[in-house]
Amino acid sequence: MIAQSLKLFSRELDLFGSQILNSELLDLFNRIPITRDDLEPWTVFDPKGYTRTIIRRTFEHELICCGWLPGQFSPIHDHVRSRSFVNVIAGEATEYLFDDIQGFAKLNLVRTLTRGTVQGEVGSIHRFGNAPLNQDKLVTLHVYVPPIAVDLSNPNVYAGGKVYEELPATMPAK
Ligand SMILES: [Fe+2]
Repeated sequence: MIAQSLKLFSRELDLFGSQILNSELLDLFNRIPITRDDLEPWTVFDPKGYTRTIIRRTFEHELICCGWLPGQFSPIHDHVRSRSFVNVIAGEATEYLFDDIQGFAKLNLVRTLTRGTVQGEVGSIHRFGNAPLNQDKLVTLHVYVPPIAVDLSNPNVYAGGKVYEELPATMPAK
């Protein structure tokens, strides 16, 4: 059964449509809190890697629940043309933010996102996950506007966009 909070959240997303402002979406997360229990049917943990479970997808947006065991991280990626929003539902997330230097990712910032954090990412290149020394599993709720096209014919397009290699420390950045 779908939790009332998720029904309300989805209805609001539909009403706003693809033109929803970043501030309206961030406000939506705060107005309609979604709990770990609400996401239970879509919360999956896999020792082989983090999981992404689509809760709902329309032509305008998609709502995804991710489960991360300690030590599990995404690759470094962008989100193509989608705006990306995240709400940390349980645990603590670690995010590495990168700059694109001639097609390689150069680390710019590392930050932790505590439970309850709501954040929008527009045009960022990042690596997201659950730090190895964390005790708790991480559960995150993501909204992408529009949905991220997954192009199975293009190995560079994975779970959200272009996958980057980190700029080797020995390579001088111009
Ligand atoms: Fe991402």
